[in-house]
Amino acid sequence: MASREQFSSRTGFIMAAAGSAIGLGNIWGFPTQTASNGGAAFVLVYFVMAFCLAYPALMAELIIGRHARANAVTALQLISTGPRTRALGTGVGMFGVVVASLILSFYAIVAGWMLAYFMSPIAEFLGWNTASQWLIDSSLTRNLSAMALFMVLTVSIISQGITNGIEKWSTRLMPLLLLLLVALIIHVLQQPGAQEGLEVYLLPDINRINPSLVLNALGQAFFSLSLGVGTMLIYGSYLNRDSNLPRLGVMVTLVDSGIAFIAGLLIVPAVYVAQAYGAVIFNDDGSLVAGPQLIFQVLPTLFDSMEGLIGPLVALAFFLLMSIASLTSSISMLEVPVALTTEKYGLARPKATILIGILITAASTIILLNFDQLFEAVIAFTTVYSQPLLGALLCVFVGWIWHRDNLLSEIKQGDPNIESTLFWKIWPSYVRIVCPLLILATFIQSLVN
Ligand code: TRP
Repeated sequence: MASREQFSSRTGFIMAAAGSAIGLGNIWGFPTQTASNGGAAFVLVYFVMAFCLAYPALMAELIIGRHARANAVTALQLISTGPRTRALGTGVGMFGVVVASLILSFYAIVAGWMLAYFMSPIAEFLGWNTASQWLIDSSLTRNLSAMALFMVLTVSIISQGITNGIEKWSTRLMPLLLLLLVALIIHVLQQPGAQEGLEVYLLPDINRINPSLVLNALGQAFFSLSLGVGTMLIYGSYLNRDSNLPRLGVMVTLVDSGIAFIAGLLIVPAVYVAQAYGAVIFNDDGSLVAGPQLIFQVLPTLFDSMEGLIGPLVALAFFLLMSIASLTSSISMLEVPVALTTEKYGLARPKATILIGILITAASTIILLNFDQLFEAVIAFTTVYSQPLLGALLCVFVGWIWHRDNLLSEIKQGDPNIESTLFWKIWPSYVRIVCPLLILATFIQSLVN
């Protein structure tokens, strides 16, 4: 095999991993989940879930990946100890690849909407009013074209590989994302109604904490950190031996939760500002609007109410932000099947990327053609059921199947003093027992409900 590519620097890895983690899950999912789950109470539980369950699972993936320096299937086969665990490894790895591809197939649809809404004000500036309107009217052709365009962008970055593709684009796009986010927050917080939104977001109502809130927080944390399907495993495999994994993992978890929290400072107040401008922000049952309605109806009311050019400019910035966040996430999903086909079946990267890109575009097309039956179902199957289950299985691999001495010597790489840290003392048994049990318990609870 040709020499394997690596991230060229620590920053490069952090940008790429944060780019994967930070996506629609942070800027859309987290704020709306917070708003509909009791405000700050959800934020609190979310942070506990992120650091107590998602972070250990993230470490499991990064450590397996760096050790094996390979895609998920090959990696799990490598650390297995006999024919049975090898078969289990193949199964878990393959299932992860399928789930990652399915996640991309619905993610590309939503990201396509973001692109369309980003391009609409541009068309308006150019005086192409029909095109501008077409871009924001939900039609099958609009949905198909926008999704396909987004897939073309994703494929073109991934076909360029690790340093020139994933790392370069993440390092370019992530700072831009933060800049746009902060600028939008400053703008929105000065509008009427923002104060009320801030209060809803920041003042906890502890009585709202219940099992379903905890489950939602866990699911949100796993989705947000891109766990279970081998995304973080493959990013870990592009790290060099002397990187300090536990610390990198903490940074990624912190940055991801931090951006989610900051995004809430934008979205929740923005909804209340939109209300001040006449948008209806509560459903009939008194709950706050969420989902597509929030992003594509409530927020545009806010943008439309702004004077002159400001409205379209803010809309453009907002949907650019959403598009960028989606793109640095979608490339990390596509890398999962691409790494498998290039490494295991020897396909050249550009060819593999295009081939898989076409397959996933076909899957997205099928979802769009049967939207009512498939869209929600695919999301639930992948994110609610498969991701936590796969996450628990990966913990089992690290805790029970991988030879303990090899595991410990892998953790030592990159940090000679690790034996004196809390991570060393707690994590190995934690990931062996506590993580799988807690994930399964929450999972079973969701089946019962
Ligand atoms: N974490 C991203 C977000 O918050 C989405 C994402 C990227 C993802 N890669 C993933 C989710 C792999 C699940 C699995 O939007």
